[in-house]
Amino acid sequence: MDEVMPEKKPIGILDSGVGGLSVLRHIQALMPNENLIYFADQANIPYGPRPPAEIRRFSEEITRFLLRKGSKVIVVACNTASGAALEHLRSAFPDMSFVGMEPAVKPGVYQSRQGKIGILATAGTFGSRRYANLMARYAWGVVAFEDPCLGLVEQIEAGKLSTQETDRILRDALAPMLNAGVDTLVLGCTHYPFVLPSIRRLAGPGVNVIDPAPAVALQVQRVLRQQHYLTEETALRDVHGYTTGDARNLEMSVEQLLSQFFPISAIEWDG
Ligand code: DGL
Repeated sequence: MDEVMPEKKPIGILDSGVGGLSVLRHIQALMPNENLIYFADQANIPYGPRPPAEIRRFSEEITRFLLRKGSKVIVVACNTASGAALEHLRSAFPDMSFVGMEPAVKPGVYQSRQGKIGILATAGTFGSRRYANLMARYAWGVVAFEDPCLGLVEQIEAGKLSTQETDRILRDALAPMLNAGVDTLVLGCTHYPFVLPSIRRLAGPGVNVIDPAPAVALQVQRVLRQQHYLTEETALRDVHGYTTGDARNLEMSVEQLLSQFFPISAIEWDG
């Protein structure tokens, strides 16, 4: 990959499954000329209940893969992996730029009129030190309600975006928050924007829902601009996906979730 001009190199994006596609679509919209590589670790999904050390190991392995593919920046498009592994990745790969995710608590607190926010994220994210630090820094003076929406990641992975079961999970998660007067919801898992219409329907028009993906795309653009790695050319853009699960399945998910097609290859770890 050494002969490739830095700006032509792809942006690497990783998640445990389809969640990172909710970030990929904003990166595409903001930087339509960039080549992208998407990595879904679907053999190991969900990350939410896994021990942090295991998620660090997976994330490191995926990062090595994305580096071999010539990535110029790596977007950890997964709150759970960012919570468990981002610091580790930055110290293990000091020459690489990483853009990570965290629940948008700061804008949530800022935007809440009643000082009551609801945060939807995985158990792994809620248990992380990154999250504890975030809450300690920004969530004072507000009441924060948390829910891990158990089973929701699996429903979204299976393409069941508006089934009765998906609605039930969301209703169970949202009811206590809404009854308590929450007026702002923070989506702290990259899978959840794909059920945004259901969340809005259940929460009603008075509740503001924050998807951090547009802000993450802007941060990726900022990082690339600083490094003079942004592609200005309107060359034919290439998007390619990799999964540790079933390639055809992920192609169909991409079609369902993003209404687009890009080729996916299945990969097997050798260690
Ligand atoms: N999409 C991931 C996140 O943002 C988590 C999904 C999982 O539990 O694997 O947290």
